[in-house]
Amino acid sequence: MNILIIGSGGREHAMAWKLAEEPNIDRVYVSPGNGGTGLEEKCENVPLPGDLREEKTQEALMEIARNIHAGITVIGPEAPLEAGLVDRFRDNGLPIIGPNRAASRLETSKSYAKSFMEKYGVRTSRSRFFTGYEAALGYAENYFKDTLGIPTGIRSEGSPPGGGDPAGVTSAGAPLVIKADGLAAGKGVVIALTIEEAEASLRSFMKEGRLGKAGKTVVMEEFVEGREVSVLAAVSVSPKRAPFMLPFISARDHKRRFDGGSGPNTGGMGAIAPAPDFFGAAQQDFAARILAPTLRGMEQEGMDYRGFIFFGLMIRENHCYLLEYNARLGDPETQAVLPLMDSNFSDLCLAILENRLDRFPLMWKKGAVCAPVAVAGEIPGFPGYPGPYRNGNPIRVDRERLIHAGARLFAAGTAYAGKGEEMLTAGGRVLAVSAWGADGEEARRRAYEGLAAVSFEGMAFRTDIGRG
Ligand code: GLY
Repeated sequence: MNILIIGSGGREHAMAWKLAEEPNIDRVYVSPGNGGTGLEEKCENVPLPGDLREEKTQEALMEIARNIHAGITVIGPEAPLEAGLVDRFRDNGLPIIGPNRAASRLETSKSYAKSFMEKYGVRTSRSRFFTGYEAALGYAENYFKDTLGIPTGIRSEGSPPGGGDPAGVTSAGAPLVIKADGLAAGKGVVIALTIEEAEASLRSFMKEGRLGKAGKTVVMEEFVEGREVSVLAAVSVSPKRAPFMLPFISARDHKRRFDGGSGPNTGGMGAIAPAPDFFGAAQQDFAARILAPTLRGMEQEGMDYRGFIFFGLMIRENHCYLLEYNARLGDPETQAVLPLMDSNFSDLCLAILENRLDRFPLMWKKGAVCAPVAVAGEIPGFPGYPGPYRNGNPIRVDRERLIHAGARLFAAGTAYAGKGEEMLTAGGRVLAVSAWGADGEEARRRAYEGLAAVSFEGMAFRTDIGRG
């Protein structure tokens, strides 16, 4: 069987690598792919034929899927979901993994996602959404007064969603989370510590239109303090089928740029799987308070969701709060989770499409995988990711040293220069090095040994991925 993957990140490289290793897979095509997918055995990059939001590009992608006889097409990122690529493939009888456009609103509209959580009792923090700047600002002002102990507003409004808040999630001086409603390429979430910061963000999103349409509506929610955990899952929900969801092993992404969780937010500086502290009671709470009501809601809303889902959780005293859904696999979580998967990823995709998830024997390797990310850091004239950075730097990889460490490289922001050629940097998050270990510490040691086999001008990374 041949596979078509849509996307160009580290997640897509991890999928391509995993699929290419499976005996029933002949070739893996990645559109557009990156410097790493082009070099992988059995893999081939296919240029993206245009802007995915345009009908003619979607038609051209279907033509590619037909020409390569793709048994399955797998969508990596969220933008093609929002563009309705799944709907078009399905309407034309082509097998594709992903939710349709309406179901992908669980990620592409934060206000829709919050309303869904509240309607179906998925435990989450209290929130409100606003389409008008003045009302949003008034809410933010009340929030900061209220969390400083002045009982003027929001906490007395209505009952907490999700059936209660056993510990109380907001404390005096707690930050306010401001989220742009639509997709904003990682720039749509602000954790405001003061009313001044909140006001600046609201003005920039709602009045100045810095994020375009995506920021015209905002969701504001209470900040939940705790430990972040990501859970990915395979989902098979569509009308007239018994709904089913199969969760993966957990993971933890480290989103802040610098060690110890300081500095600006990024798309993810590295991941470890499983999350070292997500077991027992917390897992049971997740199953009962997050997963089960989500699945019930998907069924009752009549969704067509045959793909993957990402639960972004905050764990507080073994109680799980859902921060967000993503309608796809996480990045960089996938680079840590897929190397632990002992089952064939292609078989899992077929089980989703053929409604056999309830009987699918999903197996995991023992041990842990750590995947730190290398980013385009500071060089003269460029502050470095997540700020402006320079592309086009050659990436040197000592393959023997990488293999000796037991590590592998998943490329992300890289350009393909041809088989046997060096990759060039072409993005902020350049690559991840992923390594297995009998436990988290061994996985960390090997991954960082592997990372030492890679270099490019301005290369920067966190040294504490998988810790804490
Ligand atoms: N790691 C978070 C995400 O994939 O959105």
